[in-house]
Amino acid sequence: MDETRKKQLLSIIDHAKIAIENNEELSLDYAKILFPSERKEYELNYFGKETYEQIVSKTYAAPLQEDRFFGKKNDEWVNKLIFGDNLQILKTLMEMKNNGLLKNSDGKDGVKLVYIDPPFASKQDFENDEKAYSDKIKGSEFLEWLRKRLVLIREILTDDGTVYVHLDWHKAHYIKVLLDEIFGEGNFRNEIIWHYGTYVGNTKKNFPRKHDSIFVYGKNREKRVFYPQHDGNPEADANYKRWSSYLNEDNEITGGNYPKDDSKFDGYVNRFIKENGRRPKKNDVLLRIEGKLVDSVWEIKSVNPMAAERIGYPTQKPEELLERIIVSSSDEGDIVLDCFGGSGTTAAVAEKLNRKWITCDIGKLAIYTIQKRIIGIENYSSFAVYNAGLYDNKKLDSFGATQWKEFALSLWNVEAMKKTVRGITFDGVKNGAYVKVYTPQELNDLGGYITEETIEELYDRIGTSVGSEIYIIAPRGKFAFASDELNGDGFWNVTFNILRIPNSMTEKLTDGFSAQIQASDNDSVNDAIDAVGFDFIRPPKVKFEIEKNVLHIISFDSEARIKGKYEYKGFETFSMLLVDYNYNGDIFNVCDVFYKTDFVDNSISFSCDDMGKQIMLIFVDKYGNEFRTTYLEEANV
Ligand SMILES: C[S@@+](CC[C@H](N)C(=O)[O-])C[C@H]1O[C@@H](n2cnc3c(N)ncnc32)[C@H](O)[C@@H]1O
Repeated sequence: MDETRKKQLLSIIDHAKIAIENNEELSLDYAKILFPSERKEYELNYFGKETYEQIVSKTYAAPLQEDRFFGKKNDEWVNKLIFGDNLQILKTLMEMKNNGLLKNSDGKDGVKLVYIDPPFASKQDFENDEKAYSDKIKGSEFLEWLRKRLVLIREILTDDGTVYVHLDWHKAHYIKVLLDEIFGEGNFRNEIIWHYGTYVGNTKKNFPRKHDSIFVYGKNREKRVFYPQHDGNPEADANYKRWSSYLNEDNEITGGNYPKDDSKFDGYVNRFIKENGRRPKKNDVLLRIEGKLVDSVWEIKSVNPMAAERIGYPTQKPEELLERIIVSSSDEGDIVLDCFGGSGTTAAVAEKLNRKWITCDIGKLAIYTIQKRIIGIENYSSFAVYNAGLYDNKKLDSFGATQWKEFALSLWNVEAMKKTVRGITFDGVKNGAYVKVYTPQELNDLGGYITEETIEELYDRIGTSVGSEIYIIAPRGKFAFASDELNGDGFWNVTFNILRIPNSMTEKLTDGFSAQIQASDNDSVNDAIDAVGFDFIRPPKVKFEIEKNVLHIISFDSEARIKGKYEYKGFETFSMLLVDYNYNGDIFNVCDVFYKTDFVDNSISFSCDDMGKQIMLIFVDKYGNEFRTTYLEEANV
C-alpha cells in the first residue's frame, strides 16, 4: 500500500467516525473507496450484497425426497418436479452436477438450458395490507434475492449452456447489470423483445407497455449450442421469388438445378466448395429457403382467455415462446431447467420436444398444476414429484445407509468430510465443529441406542482434541436421553449438541430458518419467496362440513414448526383449498383452487358441471403443509 492510499484510508475512517457519532448512516461511497472493485470498471452496489463465493458456499442444499412417481420405474433418467425454494434446490442440483448425476445428450455434466421467468416485484409492492406489504421482497432485497439464484444457475450450466432470463420494465435494467457481473459482459448474447400484442386499450399518458425483455447469456464465449430459427414462411423471402423456378418441393436448390448465370448465387456455390472441398453433385443442397431468419424481436401472442393451452395460472407463458427457446439452445436428450415453474410451460414444452426437464416451484398450486399438465401429455416420460425443504418423516426409513447419511448432512448444512480421530470417525464439519452421523443401521449394530454413557465414552476418547463443540446426528427414538446438549453437567470442556432427525430442531440451528409462505389470494401466487432451512410435514388440523355445494371450514389451524417472520393463528394460517371434483382414487388432478380470500364467513360454493362421485380436497396451510381428504358425493344426498 502506498502513502497516498494510506492517507486516503485514514481520512475516510476519520470521516466515518464523525458520521457515526452524529447518528448518520454511512454512505455507499465509503465502500467504494474502502473496497475498490478490482474486477470491473462499474458494478451495481447496494446494501447486503454478498460475494459470489459466499453465495455458493453459504447456501443450504435441500436434499430431494421423492413423494410420488409417475411412469415406468426402470427409466434411466427421471424428470423432476420439485416443491421447495429454488435457491436450496439449485444448490442441490449443483451437487448433483458435481457428482455426475446431470448428464446431457453429449455426456456433458450440468444443465444445458435454463429459462426463468421470476416474479417481477411489481404490483403487489403497493398493496394496502400492512402485514403483506412488509412481507414482500422488494427494492435491492429483490435484486439480491434473484442474484443469488442467478449465481447458482451459472454454477449448474454446462460449459456450453445458455440461460434465458425473462423480465419486464420493472427491474430488467438493474438485473441486466447484475447478469453482466455474474456471467461476464462478453457472454451477453442478446436481448430478446417479446412483443405479446395484447389489447392496447386507451392509454393516454404513456405508450402502452406491450413487451417483455428476455436476456440471453452463454456460460462461455466460444462454445454455445445455438441453432438459428426461421419464421417458417419461405414465400416472404426475397430469394424465393428470384429463384422460384429452381426450387424443389422442399424449397431447396440443389447441384442438379441452380441459377448458373446469376452471380448472386455464386456465393452459395463457393461456400459449398469451401466446406466440402469439391464441386456440388446433383443431389447436394446448396440453399434451403426456410423463411426469414428470426431476429431479436419476437411477435408471439400471449396466452389469451380462449386459447386451448390456457391453464388459468396467472402469468402463464405461451408454449410457442418456449418452443423457440428450447429448439434454438438445446438438443434432444439435453437437460432443460426452469426453477420458477409456475404453470409448467417450460417442462411441458421440453417434454414434447424430447428434452429431459427439471422444474420447481414454491407454490403448491403450481406443483399440482404442473403435475396435471404433464400427465395430460400423451406418452409422457417418467417423472417424480419431490419435496425439498419440507419433508415427510414417515418416508425417512426408506433411505439406504449412504443416502441417509447424505440426507442428514445436507439437512443440517454440514460440509461432508471424513476424518478419523483417535479411532472415532467423523462425517463432516459444521460451523467449524466436527459432526458424527449415526445411521439407523449403524445403531442397530451397536445394540440400538445412544446413551449418556456412549457420549461419555466418546468424550473420554477424544477429549478436546477436535475442539469444544461436537454435533451428534441420529434418528429420533435412538437416544436414550431427552437433553439436546451434553457436557457432563459442566465438567467437560466439550459440549455435544444432539440433533435428532426428524423432530429435534434446536433454536440454535433453526434461528435463521424461514417458512415457505403459500399464496392466500390470486395476486400473491406470483410473490417472490425466500425460504431457508427445512421442516417436517405436519398436516394442519381441519374441521369442515359440506352441505349441498357449500363447503364450510369449522376450524383450521396449522401445526407447522417453522413459521417465518410472522406468527399467524387459526384461520389466518389457511392458504388455499385445492379440489379434484372427479377423483379417480389414484391421482389427484387439480380442477379448482379457492384461496383464503375467496372464502366468505369461512365458506365457499363449488360450481362444477362435472362433479363425480368422489371429490378429493387438499387444504394447504400458509407453510405448505397439506391436509388431504376425500368426500363421497352420496354421503351428502
Ligand atoms: C411468473 S411465474 C412463472 C410462470 C411460468 N413461466 C409459466 O409459464 O407458467 C413465477 C413463479 O415463481 C414461483 N416462485 C417464487 N419464488 C420462488 C422460489 N423462491 N422458489 C421457487 N419458485 C418460486 C412462484 O410461485 C410462481 O409460480
